[in-house]
Amino acid sequence: MFLTMNHLNKTYAGNKVAVEDFNLEVARGEFICFIGTSGSGKTTTMRMINRMLHQTSGTIEIDGQDIAEMNPVQLRRRIGYVIQNIGLLPHMTIRDNITLVPRLLKWPEEKRNKRAKEMIDLVELPDSFLDRYPAELSGGQQQRIGVARALAADQDIILMDEAFSALDPVTRELLQDLVKNLQQKSGKTFVFVTHDMDEALKLATRIVVMSHGKTVQVATPEEILRHPANEFVEELIGHDRLIQAKPSITTVGQVMLKTPVAMTADQTMSQALKLMHERRVDTLLVTDTDKKLIGFVDIESFSDNYAPQQALRNIVNTKIFYVNENAVIRDTVDRILKHGYKNVPVVDDQQHLVGIVTRAALVDIVYDALFGDEAADGQADAASKAGV
Ligand SMILES: Nc1ncnc2c1ncn2[C@@H]1O[C@H](COP(=O)(O)OP(=O)(O)O)[C@@H](O)[C@H]1O
Ligand SMILES: [Mg+2]
Repeated sequence: MFLTMNHLNKTYAGNKVAVEDFNLEVARGEFICFIGTSGSGKTTTMRMINRMLHQTSGTIEIDGQDIAEMNPVQLRRRIGYVIQNIGLLPHMTIRDNITLVPRLLKWPEEKRNKRAKEMIDLVELPDSFLDRYPAELSGGQQQRIGVARALAADQDIILMDEAFSALDPVTRELLQDLVKNLQQKSGKTFVFVTHDMDEALKLATRIVVMSHGKTVQVATPEEILRHPANEFVEELIGHDRLIQAKPSITTVGQVMLKTPVAMTADQTMSQALKLMHERRVDTLLVTDTDKKLIGFVDIESFSDNYAPQQALRNIVNTKIFYVNENAVIRDTVDRILKHGYKNVPVVDDQQHLVGIVTRAALVDIVYDALFGDEAADGQADAASKAGV
């Protein structure tokens, strides 16, 4: 394997565990994105790869060689690094900034100048910029120079730490396209830290999801979308994207019945009984006058002590299981089936009653999920046989 991290641990002074048993194997030419909430250990892990930080235990190997045993020049030849505030040196021209590492690596001047020109072309900026100073360039242009500098020394591994997070969305997208393009052309290996899932999904060949110093999931963008390892990953992805990525995964709101049988709490038991009889239900949902869900009454609540003029608020059962309309149906099905609920009210973010999921509807959903295409074909067959 090209880059291997074995049982990496990093504990900072004061026993702060930043990285815990981190393991990763990276093939040459991969684009790895580390993603996770702030403080999850992304920067720490990345900095250990180029020895800006030393791990408490564990090893890192490049092409089978332990980086602890490489000399600093050897290591710099192999690994480039771009940080968030790119750190162009203000008193140096763009040319000197781009060729900083080649100079450290003692490339002859002619070769360095040739490379500076190649790189500025590569990041699509005019050659005339080479003689300017960083302050004369916009933030996005400076970031392009940062990318050029990272690639200039022709290192095998490029590390980038939230390199684009300070940029406006348009510039960020342009640079993402640029980096992805350069990476594919050059075949270099990237390790890229971000807290932006869109960015990770766009750039990565594999995504490493981190939380509290540990890896939660290591998978391709597609796998992450299709099979997020747990709720933390789902949260990072965001429900909207999950639904888009996975049409078979729907929300409760998409399958619920939008006309639950309900009444406000100020209505009476006799009114309730009449409605239940009309609609042929044994349970009635109860809301306040603002349509916020309070609870339910069922046929048992009536048989115990029936008083026709009694308001529902006095007998309503407030111990009610409900789900949010944005909940993913797969999870909801599990919960409903496990608890044996006959039906489950659905609320919006403000607790307003917006629908109901019935057990009967769930059977359809599960059937659909399991036999979706087949079932549709079957229906088509039946329809054609029936001459419809
Ligand atoms: N120099 C340090 N000393 C002590 N704790 C640190 C130091 N640097 C980072 N940490 C802690 O280690 C954890 C991981 O930090 P970091 O790797 O910067 O996370 P990320 O890049 O994912 O935001 C955090 O809890 C952070 O507060
Ligand atoms: Mg960080």
